[in-house]
Amino acid sequence: MTESNNIESILSSDVTIEPPEAFRAKARTSLESYQEKYQRSLDDPQGFWGDIARELHWFTPFEQVVQWDPPFARWFDGGTTNICYNAVDRHAEGARANKAAIIWEGEPGDTRTLTWRELHREVQRFANVLRRYGVEKGDRIAIYMPMVPEAAIAMLACARLGAIHSVVFGGFSANALRDRILDAGAKVVLTADGAWRRGSVLPLKEAVDAAVTECPCVEHVVVLRRTGNDVNMTEGRDVWWHEAEQQVELTCPAEPVEAEHPLFILYTSGTTGKPKGVLHTTGGYMVGTYLTSREVFDLRDDDLYWCTADVGWVTGHSYIVYGPLLNGATIFMYEGAPNWPEVDRFWDMIERWKISILYTAPTAVRAFMKWGDQWPAKHDLSSLRLLGSVGEPINPEAWLWYYRVIGGERCPIVDTWWQTETGAIMLTTLPGAHHMRPGYAGLPFYGVDAAVVDEQGNPVPDGTGGLLVIRRPWPSMLRTVYGDDQRYKDTYWSKIEGCYFAGDGAVRNAADGYFEVLGRIDDVLNVSGHRLGTMEIESALVSHPAVAEAAVVGRPDDLKGEAVVAFVILEGGRTGDADLAAELKAHVANEIGAIAKPEEIRFTGALPKTRSGKIMRRLLRKIAAGDEDFGDTTTLEDPSIIAQLTAKGF
Ligand code: PRX
Repeated sequence: MTESNNIESILSSDVTIEPPEAFRAKARTSLESYQEKYQRSLDDPQGFWGDIARELHWFTPFEQVVQWDPPFARWFDGGTTNICYNAVDRHAEGARANKAAIIWEGEPGDTRTLTWRELHREVQRFANVLRRYGVEKGDRIAIYMPMVPEAAIAMLACARLGAIHSVVFGGFSANALRDRILDAGAKVVLTADGAWRRGSVLPLKEAVDAAVTECPCVEHVVVLRRTGNDVNMTEGRDVWWHEAEQQVELTCPAEPVEAEHPLFILYTSGTTGKPKGVLHTTGGYMVGTYLTSREVFDLRDDDLYWCTADVGWVTGHSYIVYGPLLNGATIFMYEGAPNWPEVDRFWDMIERWKISILYTAPTAVRAFMKWGDQWPAKHDLSSLRLLGSVGEPINPEAWLWYYRVIGGERCPIVDTWWQTETGAIMLTTLPGAHHMRPGYAGLPFYGVDAAVVDEQGNPVPDGTGGLLVIRRPWPSMLRTVYGDDQRYKDTYWSKIEGCYFAGDGAVRNAADGYFEVLGRIDDVLNVSGHRLGTMEIESALVSHPAVAEAAVVGRPDDLKGEAVVAFVILEGGRTGDADLAAELKAHVANEIGAIAKPEEIRFTGALPKTRSGKIMRRLLRKIAAGDEDFGDTTTLEDPSIIAQLTAKGF
């Protein structure tokens, strides 16, 4: 099937699209080389990963590629390295020294370019600032920053010293930030006065002040001046970034760390009320993000690569900062909103900067589609050569729009499935090598032994839905949940014997073995590509004095993927109204962040429970979606409550 197919016939039948010929002719990987390398990666993982790892710098060579003591893996044992050294120092001398490492545009339109040499200098200088405030190898540092080059510099400076960063997305509230700082025991917090968002200032320092008052572990807060708004500086605790930088030297050698030395903690939602600190370590994560970035994005020195994620999410860690920089690629970073000052901001920047690779989320693609073809049509997007999608399943309609309107049917699309826990891309096509199948992520990446199984762990036939599992360790896998090995075992390695269970459902296509990821089968929501636990939102709701009980489900949403719907029982038989609903929504925003705000609150006198007392979420999901076919409700304790639950909410 070729690109000339009309969209209607593509949408109505399950078809494939061959990679555009011009791309294929120059692509890094061919179908044959993928097959050969994939086979080797499974037959000889030690040889395969050892060779890749040796392309990077080790202060002391590793002795063993992988040691697997299920469910604990150690990669590149005996070796010492430094990911910052590999991502920065290696490119700061020689041919790339004066090439751009980071090209950045602020929301107000200010711009900045850092060459590799400049990035090297800035990272060293900031590492010295951290040292000056007592940061040592193994210390935890919280980063709560806008999308500015300093966010990447801060992460790299931590890694340079062997300090462990925990980046908290700037959209999280002070309370959520406090919980994450406390769980990690962070010693220093890095922030800014504010961040620009749709022309106004998001007061980051204010949130840090509120959080840190309750965090005795925090000794210092380093504050970048970005928006220029007034902030309170606490004497002895808070320091200005630019002032601190004037007091330190420009050179700071990278600290050699063991391959398994922790690199970062990133909190993510799970099925309980408490977010998990996913822990990644140095060597394996470095090798995994290095190889996936190069192969999946077909990276070249003359590319301008733009991943639109925020550094607060794993995509920002692996595919804005570490992976591309490890490859010496030039990255583009943008601070603000896609619809500021107009909805063509992205296309305007692609045209002005000649961006060649764009990696974004389906929710963004759907918003662009809704805003209309006239916006991208105003711009010359011919610099683009490759498109990527991540964060949630991309519906074929959005895929095809992206392919046709943004990519001009010239750019392959890589639909990359992975997770905070996997560290790097796990399922994808390789551009130029593989045909594409809209709606399907594709095939396992090198070293990934993926399967679709039933609840007992038996592979299901192709074309049948099941659980997506990974059957062997891979370099960039999480090592544990920070401070909680038991939770790591229980969450990821207990559902299916001997397998990592990802939490997603999937189906494999019989024709080509492509995986279609169907979404979460557990109580985790995906709202605009942001991962939220239903329990986390429920805990936030019941922490409000008026709420006795709450159940949260996702409702399919054309734009966001899923929208949050909360069913709420009030204390003392109180009845709810629009004002209380608004108050509860604000309460959730305050507890977690605006991203978790329920779209709708339905007050009810009871929740549908089975006779054994379990909330029937399946039923709530149907009710929230307006589906009137409730299926079997005979196990329901009190069938009469359905009328209350279906009443309109606020
Ligand atoms: O449900 C899957 C979905 O996002 C989840 C992981 O979320 P998070 O850890 O926040 O990481 C997001 C960025 C890697 C997965 O369990 N997901 C991610 N990418 C895809 C996807 N679902 C379908 N297709 C994808 N390409």
